[in-house]
Amino acid sequence: MSTQGREAFASLRLNTTVPHPARRYNYWLGGKDNFAPDRKSGDAIAAVFPQIRTAARANRDFLRRAVTTLAKEAGIRQFLDIGTGLPTANNTHEVAQTIDPTSRVVYVDNDPLVLIHARALLTSAPEGATTYLDADLRNPGEILDAGAVRSTLDFSKPIALMLVAILHFIPDEDQPHQVVSQLVNALPPGSYVVISHATYDPLPQQVIDRLLALPASSGPFHPRSRQEFARFFADLELISPGIVSIADWRAEEEDLPRPTPADVICYGAVARVPNRR
Ligand SMILES: C[S@@+](CC[C@H](N)C(=O)[O-])C[C@H]1O[C@@H](n2cnc3c(N)ncnc32)[C@H](O)[C@@H]1O
Repeated sequence: MSTQGREAFASLRLNTTVPHPARRYNYWLGGKDNFAPDRKSGDAIAAVFPQIRTAARANRDFLRRAVTTLAKEAGIRQFLDIGTGLPTANNTHEVAQTIDPTSRVVYVDNDPLVLIHARALLTSAPEGATTYLDADLRNPGEILDAGAVRSTLDFSKPIALMLVAILHFIPDEDQPHQVVSQLVNALPPGSYVVISHATYDPLPQQVIDRLLALPASSGPFHPRSRQEFARFFADLELISPGIVSIADWRAEEEDLPRPTPADVICYGAVARVPNRR
């Protein structure tokens, strides 16, 4: 399908009457690609948890530092970024291609508005490549077999699988741990997995109770405990500093004071796919 055809198709699927995670996150980040229900839902969450905008920015900073670390220190030149979000500052290919313009990135998201704005993600340096796939994380086989993925990424060389602030939208009944292990099993040794994931672990019970009482119209949201987060990395080698708050992951060069774990309510970690499995 042509780019214009894809955009027209996406417009038909676009429902601006209910909040969507990509648009609400865009609102918290100060972007313009959101609608009244996204802002209403974003404000309702911010009324209970006012640090949410800090948390969103901290998550973007985690993504930037994770991509920089993998590109600079691990020599990673291929990225499969699932749950891309709306284009904003420091998109994965921009960070990676600043370090090496030959870097190749596949973006995957299931939100029609992200698809409509995907052109802004397809601004690769001529030496590298970026492609966009409209697909659902819950169908990992479809992602792995997609032509856009196979023609952009070489599965005989290390790939960074990025699942940044997406898995908390997948309920347990959709088997998020199984989905991640299916994706990880397709990666060659020496690949990496980057995950950030919301958690209520650092919050007092009264704030948790108020967050749980938010209307269902806010959409599915499944924060997980440290233990449940750690299970995503089963059989993988966590790199330093392991599982920490996103605000503390290799953040030594960030401005002080850094947000606390209770400000960002999100774990982050990066792990290597071992040589022998
Ligand atoms: C909070 S945003 C995170 C964006 C970006 N990864 C970041 O961390 O800045 C979550 C993104 O995941 C996407 N998403 C949620 N569920 C998804 C699914 N089942 N399949 C594909 N994308 C999904 C949303 O559309 C949204 O763009």
